[in-house]
Amino acid sequence: MEEARTGEYKKEFLDRYRILFKDFNSFLKANERENLCIRVNTLKISKEKLRKRLEDRGVILEEIEYGFKILKSAFSISSCPEHLFGYFYIQGEAEMNIVPFFKFKEKLVIDMCASPGGKTTQISEIMKNKGVVLAFDVDRIEALKNNIQRLGVENCVVFKKDSTKLDIEAKNILLDAPCTGSGIIRKDPTRKYSRSMNDIYFCQNLQKKLLEAGIRSLKTDGELIYCTCSLEPEENEHVIDWALKNFDITLEEITTTINGKKLVDGFQKPFGKRLDGEVKKCKRFLPHVHDTHGMFVAKVVK
Ligand SMILES: C[S@@+](CC[C@H](N)C(=O)[O-])C[C@H]1O[C@@H](n2cnc3c(N)ncnc32)[C@H](O)[C@@H]1O
Repeated sequence: MEEARTGEYKKEFLDRYRILFKDFNSFLKANERENLCIRVNTLKISKEKLRKRLEDRGVILEEIEYGFKILKSAFSISSCPEHLFGYFYIQGEAEMNIVPFFKFKEKLVIDMCASPGGKTTQISEIMKNKGVVLAFDVDRIEALKNNIQRLGVENCVVFKKDSTKLDIEAKNILLDAPCTGSGIIRKDPTRKYSRSMNDIYFCQNLQKKLLEAGIRSLKTDGELIYCTCSLEPEENEHVIDWALKNFDITLEEITTTINGKKLVDGFQKPFGKRLDGEVKKCKRFLPHVHDTHGMFVAKVVK
């Protein structure tokens, strides 16, 4: 059983998490175990064929909806031929559940913050390489292009461009926003101490600018998915609350289960500040509830 290692966290963050998560101790323990997961790339191979190939190499797998958990492998999964051939993408289980929340409305999809391409390549996979995905980012463009090529994606155009200046309209827009990343402490334990409240407010400012640009570019009857891998309400419910107060939008509730458990409702009164009741429709994946990274997701509709 994992130990709750409190010593590595900044005290102010421990105090915050103690208030946010009533099962605080199990939250801390859950941050000490990581599941290595892969998403099968059905553009290149079926789930069953991938299972057979990896099991033939002695890898012990557990099936999840969009791929597998790697329970045991004698070698680094990123260096096996199946990875190099683009048969799978190494991706957290919560992360691979975000893109399937879309109802695809037309043949054009915008990914505002695409690098290194985990969700972009999944959009193309679901679109079966038809239509067009416009993938924007300001950084890691080579990694994005490499992943697109490795996974056999043929319907994606990459732009090195600041998405706060987005000027194309679409009915499906993904905003996987830059964030402080406290939801991925299990993958990167340095996140226990490497971020400050200033970083949270810096990200919030950028997240609002990106969301404003996304909403401006969203066509009527369209949907924008906003997500982060941060646990901090300031980067999540507060950003959505701000958007509800300032733009003509509503939220659509995401109803899904993961590992047999419903997602957790968005926090309506984080740290005592009451937000618009609609934020309940936002959802959270939590390490101690779903055994995944912490992710926040909201579906904004116009
Ligand atoms: C959470 S990561 C995206 C992960 C990616 N969607 C995936 O699934 O692999 C956030 C991204 O936002 C990008 N970003 C930050 N500011 C941006 C801006 N103004 N315009 C576009 N992208 C930006 C960062 O470079 C980073 O790659």
